[in-house]
Amino acid sequence: MRLKDRVALVTGGGGGLGEAISLCLAKEGAHVAVSDLRIDAAEKVASLVRGMGRKSIALQTDVRFADQCRDSIATAIREMGGLDILVCNAGVGGYSPDRDPDKLLTIENITDEDWDMVIDVNLKGVFLCNREAIPHFKKQRSGKIINISSIGGRMPLDFLAHYDASKAGVITLTQAVAMHMARYNVNVNSVCPGLIKTDMGAGMAELLSKSHPVFRGMTPDQVFSTLVKNSVRKRTPQTAEDIGNAVVFLASDEAKEIVGQSVNVCGGMYFS
Ligand SMILES: NC(=O)c1ccc[n+]([C@@H]2O[C@H](COP(=O)([O-])OP(=O)(O)OC[C@H]3O[C@@H](n4cnc5c(N)ncnc54)[C@H](O)[C@@H]3O)[C@@H](O)[C@H]2O)c1
Repeated sequence: MRLKDRVALVTGGGGGLGEAISLCLAKEGAHVAVSDLRIDAAEKVASLVRGMGRKSIALQTDVRFADQCRDSIATAIREMGGLDILVCNAGVGGYSPDRDPDKLLTIENITDEDWDMVIDVNLKGVFLCNREAIPHFKKQRSGKIINISSIGGRMPLDFLAHYDASKAGVITLTQAVAMHMARYNVNVNSVCPGLIKTDMGAGMAELLSKSHPVFRGMTPDQVFSTLVKNSVRKRTPQTAEDIGNAVVFLASDEAKEIVGQSVNVCGGMYFS
């Protein structure tokens, strides 16, 4: 119960890593406001959190918009009785299933719309939620912010440049916000997940099975296993709970001296 009675807000909490992060925080005693673009998904996770004996509310939020970020943070503070932990997890992969399978998402095939969507959700969304929570944390003189980046922000590939650029931006944004907030006793850090078979992870494998010359003809499962075998030193994918556990640690008092760091949770895909 390292987070007993702390209040957390998790963006993109309605599925994938956000769901696991919400449940890991609740397991350690935190009450969790679950925010997501998909309110039904957020409601489902909020009811799981309540089933664990914690308080929870679901909030419909599109993190691309400042007013929605501001409203969801204000509602969480009002209805949950405060805010101690903000986890900015909402993200998009930058590809969709209806994409032309012959067009690998190398730089020349990334459209303006692709770029804007990925930067708006993955980077601007983190900026907006950090900015809107900061006055509360400053006044309180305590708090934890954990932004979810990606190993793609450390080691870009020759496709999905927009995604990798957004995640590198999250690492640097985290450092800048951490510098500003350290004097207020607020820890700001990020987590860089490696490969996890959520909707996003499975979607990337499907895209590569259709469009990447190395993977074309494989099933999405085979693509995912090949990626793991060739890039993860431990030879196994990470689980959503691995990411949730890292978030719990960074949100706990045990991590009080960790400031502005981005923690790779990737089974040894990248070393730095
Ligand atoms: N799965 C992986 O292998 C992996 C690896 C590295 C980093 N990440 C990062 O982890 C985070 C979670 O990824 P995931 O794998 O769980 O993805 P996912 O697609 O399974 O879940 C993402 C969640 O974010 C929500 N969302 C999307 N756009 C939103 C918006 N505009 N506003 C609010 N919510 C929105 C979705 O509704 C969904 O619930 C993302 O930031 C992602 O980039 C994932």
